[in-house]
Amino acid sequence: MSEINYQQLAENSQPFERIYRWRGDDPAKADAIRLGEEALKAGRVAAVLLAGGMATRLGNDFPKGLYPIGFNGESFFEIFAAKIHALQNKFGRFVPLYIMTSDATDDQTQAFFHEKDFFGLPEQDVIFFKQGVQGAVDIDTGKTLYSAPGVPAVSPDGHGGVLSALKKFRLLDDMKQCGIEMVCTFQVDNPLIPLADPELIGYCLYDEAEIATLTIRKNSPTEKVGNMVKNNGVVQVIEYSDLPLSCAQKTNPDGSLAIGLGNIAIHVFRLDFLARILANEDFSLPFHTVKKKVPYIDQNGVLIHPTQPNAFKKEKFIFDVFPFAKKIAIVEGDRRLCFSALKNAPNSPDENERSVRADMKASGLF
Ligand code: UD1
Repeated sequence: MSEINYQQLAENSQPFERIYRWRGDDPAKADAIRLGEEALKAGRVAAVLLAGGMATRLGNDFPKGLYPIGFNGESFFEIFAAKIHALQNKFGRFVPLYIMTSDATDDQTQAFFHEKDFFGLPEQDVIFFKQGVQGAVDIDTGKTLYSAPGVPAVSPDGHGGVLSALKKFRLLDDMKQCGIEMVCTFQVDNPLIPLADPELIGYCLYDEAEIATLTIRKNSPTEKVGNMVKNNGVVQVIEYSDLPLSCAQKTNPDGSLAIGLGNIAIHVFRLDFLARILANEDFSLPFHTVKKKVPYIDQNGVLIHPTQPNAFKKEKFIFDVFPFAKKIAIVEGDRRLCFSALKNAPNSPDENERSVRADMKASGLF
């Protein structure tokens, strides 16, 4: 189990002094947009899509990026590609798209891009790389699960695995050689994603920060998003499942939530920051123990596909890199314009294809 004391972190969290207002009325907005646009025009920006997750909650046997979420059946991948085309039209440069896959998603993802002719993106600007794996143990017995006799069942090591994968495949070096200075990461399940957004990139540059993270105001104390906290100047994210209810419900004198900003996994990293921390041989992110559905063979050697979480496995989370940064620009966005995530199967009450399509319509972006 993780040794982080979330109760203490949450109870001692201090307010953020400076929150940039994305798409709002921020005094730094014009400067930020100018800086972000300059970076895009100069080809200094790359995008990294975290697409290694197995989408088990959706109940599909294909990677989430292939899900036809658009009004005309466009997949997430096609929507992201369209956003990169829009940036190219505006700034005259293709933002290279690095796609992190896993054993579970790699074949189908790559085949899909080939089948769709890379959605018109230059093939050399779409770079696939695979994240690592972790074993799993049975929730009840604590015993190692096997996918075949003598073969331990493994699954992706969490999206924090992106850091070791970038290092393993020397991708930061490649990016640096191409003049990349800013790395924008995002998840596969949010069609509203402001991909390589000039204003967000600009707040990182304007603030002279090593990371900028786009957040939203939580719509309830227990909304299922990571929680932004700050302790002694160090910014951290506490996952919703780790935030004690008493802390989640705490309010400010004006009635707003004391821990009110939610992580939506849209980050901008300075390449130099990532290179610096990864150069340290001792660097690693902590592991979190999560419950997942992991296929396994039973005592008769029959492969079982569980319908409920049956395994504990260890995952790394990308936001655990935040405490390593000297400075982080906290940016608050209007959720209607930047966040609606597909997490659940069609018949579930929320974060399903119906809610996402309704949000896409309401955003005015589609
Ligand atoms: C995640 C965040 C949560 C945030 C929410 C916003 C974590 C632990 N939680 O929750 O704080 O508020 O998104 O939507 O990050 N992925 C990989 N490899 C993996 C695991 C996941 O690439 O090994 C990718 C998935 O493909 C997906 C993304 O990471 O794009 C999110 O993973 P998911 O497990 O769905 O996280 P959430 O619980 O939805």
